[in-house]
Amino acid sequence: MASAHPPTPVLCGLGGWLPPRIVTNEELSRGLDTSDTWIRTRTGIGRRHVAEPGTATSDLAVEAARRALKSAGTDHADALILATTTPDRPCPATAPLIAAELGLGTVPALDVGAVCTGFLYALATGAGFLAAGLAGTVLVVGADTYSRILDPADRSTRALFGDGAGAVVLRAGTADEPGALGPLVLASDGTGADLIRVPSGGSRDPVRPGTAHLSDPYFRMEGKKVFRNAVERMAAASRQVAERRGWGVEGIDLLVAHQANVRILYAVADLLGLPRSRCHVHLDRVGNTAAASVPLALADAAAGGALRPGDRVVTCAFGGGLTWGAAALNWPGISPH
Ligand code: ACO
Repeated sequence: MASAHPPTPVLCGLGGWLPPRIVTNEELSRGLDTSDTWIRTRTGIGRRHVAEPGTATSDLAVEAARRALKSAGTDHADALILATTTPDRPCPATAPLIAAELGLGTVPALDVGAVCTGFLYALATGAGFLAAGLAGTVLVVGADTYSRILDPADRSTRALFGDGAGAVVLRAGTADEPGALGPLVLASDGTGADLIRVPSGGSRDPVRPGTAHLSDPYFRMEGKKVFRNAVERMAAASRQVAERRGWGVEGIDLLVAHQANVRILYAVADLLGLPRSRCHVHLDRVGNTAAASVPLALADAAAGGALRPGDRVVTCAFGGGLTWGAAALNWPGISPH
């Protein structure tokens, strides 16, 4: 007889990939009116990885996905969901291409666009696939190449972002298993859509007839306004999932938040009343990798010994849309690749 409860998504594989080229703050400062001191003190970022010309988001995603499948001890998943704001092309979606590169056959594959919260939205979509019986295992990938959409002359965004990809494998399981994911909370507020945006290239402001130009194809952000929103929203969502899971904030072993700015991470911890030592910091080495940020930070925490099997993890994110969310997770005994 079919169970009355939908299956619980269980995390059973994790992988990450960063393009090899590293750009330090010093290197960035040579062509931009900024400095290592400003970037470090205002953001906590020391360096970032940047994809070589010719490398697209799907190339990074395939590398991360291969590693996640290997970590799960398999070479197959029944569905693939990609969170990204920097698809290979505006049309079609990038996920089917990744599925084909991985040899997954004709599995369902789609892109999810929720900017820096994209990975959490993709996790929820993956959980939905499992609950609907559409798949027994789902590959969830977060990948972005922001270097392609940053204005080379804009110091307020160029210093912040890096390229990368992270991926997890979810399988249908039960709530008492190691790796059990949930609850998740997700939210949006479109009244803040202008705070984080790429103004041109969509249907609102397409290519100008008669020219091949877009009026502004670059990523723009009102950093100060985003900062306050990000802190309050991530703290509230994290508290919600910790309480719903029955842990309370004091029961969180590690907070793995979207890595935008170390001042945001510590402000979230302070607002929650969580010791800063329980807040994982990865951005010093990679910057803000957008949809890849959460899975890459999880992989870094697990690989560095900051996460042990059984740990109570809360992950949260905030990004353009505006969008935000959080998820609780019992850390499984997996080795990230
Ligand atoms: N180097 C030197 N000076 C800089 C730089 C830089 N790289 N960037 C900005 N400045 C200058 C500004 O021009 C400004 O100068 P002015 O006073 O002469 O105008 C001054 O520094 C202060 O700028 P602020 O924007 O007030 O600096 P702030 O301390 O707020 O830091 C930052 C800016 C890092 C962007 C911060 O606001 C932030 O982290 N915001 C949140 C980002 C975030 O959370 N993003 C998540 C979502 S991202 C997504 O969804 C893709």
